[in-house]
Amino acid sequence: MGTTFAAQIDPRVASFIEKPRKMLINGKWVDAVSGKTFPTYDPSTGEVLAQVAEGDREDINLAVKAARQAFEGPWRKMTPSDRGRLIWKLGDLIDAHVEEFAYLDSLDNGKPLTVARAADVPLAAELFRYMAGWATKLEGNTIPLSVPYTPKAKYLSYTLREPVGVVGQIIPWNFPLLMAAWKLGPALTTGCTVILKPAEQTPLSALRLGELIVEAGFPEGVVNIVPGYGETAGAALAAHPDVDKIAFTGSTEVGRLIVQAATGNLKRVSLELGGKSPNVVFKDADMDVAIGGAASAIFFNHGQCCCAGSRLYIEKEVFDKVVDGVAANAKKIRVGAGLDPKTQMGPLVSQEQLNRVCGYLESGLSEGAKAIAGGQKKGDKGYFVEPTVLVDTTDNMKVVQEEIFGPVVVAMPFTDPEEIALRANDNVYGLAAGIWTRDISKAHRMAENLQAGTVWINCYNIFDAALPFGGYKQSGWGREMGHEVLNNYTQTKAVCARI
Ligand code: NAI
Ligand code: MG
Repeated sequence: MGTTFAAQIDPRVASFIEKPRKMLINGKWVDAVSGKTFPTYDPSTGEVLAQVAEGDREDINLAVKAARQAFEGPWRKMTPSDRGRLIWKLGDLIDAHVEEFAYLDSLDNGKPLTVARAADVPLAAELFRYMAGWATKLEGNTIPLSVPYTPKAKYLSYTLREPVGVVGQIIPWNFPLLMAAWKLGPALTTGCTVILKPAEQTPLSALRLGELIVEAGFPEGVVNIVPGYGETAGAALAAHPDVDKIAFTGSTEVGRLIVQAATGNLKRVSLELGGKSPNVVFKDADMDVAIGGAASAIFFNHGQCCCAGSRLYIEKEVFDKVVDGVAANAKKIRVGAGLDPKTQMGPLVSQEQLNRVCGYLESGLSEGAKAIAGGQKKGDKGYFVEPTVLVDTTDNMKVVQEEIFGPVVVAMPFTDPEEIALRANDNVYGLAAGIWTRDISKAHRMAENLQAGTVWINCYNIFDAALPFGGYKQSGWGREMGHEVLNNYTQTKAVCARI
């Protein structure tokens, strides 16, 4: 399906993917020390899209050395205003290359070009501009002291907010450019230097971003981009003794490995992990808004969102109406290659992801769940799955408890509005939640009771660089975005002077 649209590929993108892409270390584009490259695939066809330098331990070592030198050298000496200016410039450069980034993410990840153009790319540009402003606002406090054992002494005490240092950032494939932006923005504005490892499925847009980072004029070594596999390049970065902090987004399983790898030098860790987010529709909701919202909560980005509204709880009186509405919505979705302008949902990212999602479908159906829309793989080329609505599930089924990360929602009725928060919270994850009701008191009481880092009321998947995002429970440590994320990248120094 993808090749049908090959002729329409933006010529700058066609030439970008034509030759093997190198990695960015110390401001230079270099091959892997091993000389190896790895393929990235077009998920709409399963065919090789491009070859990319395959980073491993030795490349990570070089990148960490470059990042350390940059941290101790030019980057620390730059004024906050100049740092902010560079970051703002990077946001503007992204805006000047929207088409290229949209094509790269659509080709590499499979998402509709129209979605990448309208959401991923502008959100990435905006993230950098939001973060640029913080460079000049990382202030400490002055603190009055009352030390009991030096009653006559006078002190001037204050805090400094300093960068944690050299940061390793490991990102996933579901929003390739945007995840790079979420990670790089706060690290750069706080004055850290970075080794970024993009996901092996989708390294291309991060590498193009690297070219804009060079063009913007960031000093050499401030951002190093090392593509490669998780078990090799990723693991080497997470365990590196001269990396001060690791920021990770991905599976909870790998999140645990990152924490273990960090024990060597006790580097700081922030984690943005999985979810199984409850989405609760009350009978007093505006039904049109709730039905469309519940459908897009799960089907946006093919369900490959950590915050996907994958457990749909519907008050009994409106269960049939909402389920039928969401199922009708699912059946109407045009599934196809990301570059096809008619496409509303693209393929899953990889064969591995296709197998995983189909495995969950089989598990649910064999345990007695019923698919009232979709339920299986679509076509025999590429990694397509039908948008699926499952009913007749029980709370202990794997499809109800575990993250599927595909376009599969389980819809369940509830009778007692007082108990639904308990049921919604009955999961190891706590990333996001949705509430649909016209009763504002009920909505805000419920928001307080939900164990989730984000609660959306009468909306879903609303993101803004200013709004913190992250997980309760096993959905992670720390927050992305907003001023909260700056805490992940700074440490406080207390200075106490006797005067
Ligand atoms: P993953 O967690 O294996 O991959 C995410 C990133 O971690 C990639 O850059 C990968 O190269 C890296 N990585 C993998 N193993 C590593 C290791 N041992 N040390 C250091 N880095 C490592 O996720 P995967 O396999 O792509 O997807 C599996 C499941 O994870 C999905 O089905 C979904 O449930 C969840 N997931 C959650 C995401 C989120 O946004 N929270 C994003 C992607 C996946
Ligand atoms: Mg994995």
